[in-house]
Amino acid sequence: MKNFLGFKNKKSKENHEITLDMQSIPKHIAIIMDGNGRWAKEKNLPRTLGHKAGVETIREIVKESTRLGIKYLTVYAFSTENWKRPADEVNALMKLLVEYLKKEVTELNSQGVVVKHIGDISKLPKICQEELNKAYEMTKNNNGLTLNLALNYGGRNEILHAIKNISNEIKKGNLTYTEIDEKVISKHLYTVNIPDPDIIIRTAGEQRLSNFLLWQCAYSEFWYTDTKWPDFKKTDLQKAIYDYQNRDRRYGGLK
Ligand code: FPP
Repeated sequence: MKNFLGFKNKKSKENHEITLDMQSIPKHIAIIMDGNGRWAKEKNLPRTLGHKAGVETIREIVKESTRLGIKYLTVYAFSTENWKRPADEVNALMKLLVEYLKKEVTELNSQGVVVKHIGDISKLPKICQEELNKAYEMTKNNNGLTLNLALNYGGRNEILHAIKNISNEIKKGNLTYTEIDEKVISKHLYTVNIPDPDIIIRTAGEQRLSNFLLWQCAYSEFWYTDTKWPDFKKTDLQKAIYDYQNRDRRYGGLK
């Protein structure tokens, strides 16, 4: 028996078919979308065409995440370190972001997606800030998937930002030193009100975090693939979820 999503209800790998347990779909998936440049190089294309192909993958993965009932999808689109790239590439990424938002937001809205961002967007070109704010305003009352775009995002920068804000609240008398706990810190991160990621996926073979969601991934499950982001398909997402569903999460405790 297959359920309405086309998957069997119990876990199995029969006939190479991925069968997901629809009762334990992860709430939050975060993705380090790596390998756009290498994908383009392999094809003798400019790196920017790798990023353009990467946008197509975002489109497919958002659709699949919505179909699977995932609540939060965070994608690492531009890190605080990515400013070190040549200006042409940085500009192309900003342009792709604007094009993506202008072209997709109506469709995302009709799918019930909330389009949010994390990171210090005040350093992005004005047009990017405007389109991000417009997208959020249009979609903020939806109750489907939250697509969380990490832009000028860095985990250390986020923690620093939280420490400064907490210190400021102490200075203003709104908070005391003894009241600071993990919840207070979480509340001052860009991801406020978003649960910690259940899985962090990284494409293109590297096995590192690259300053992504440092606080939030304390107990996230990691999943790596050699597949480069432009080649990442919905079946790869399903594989990651399948592996996640077969892991034993103990959060430092015992079963
Ligand atoms: C990593 O590949 C990818 C990035 C730094 C940017 C990701 C951006 C996109 C997929 C498109 C723009 C985003 C939106 C939301 C419209 P890399 O360039 O580091 O690849 P490489 O390691 O093979 O060089």
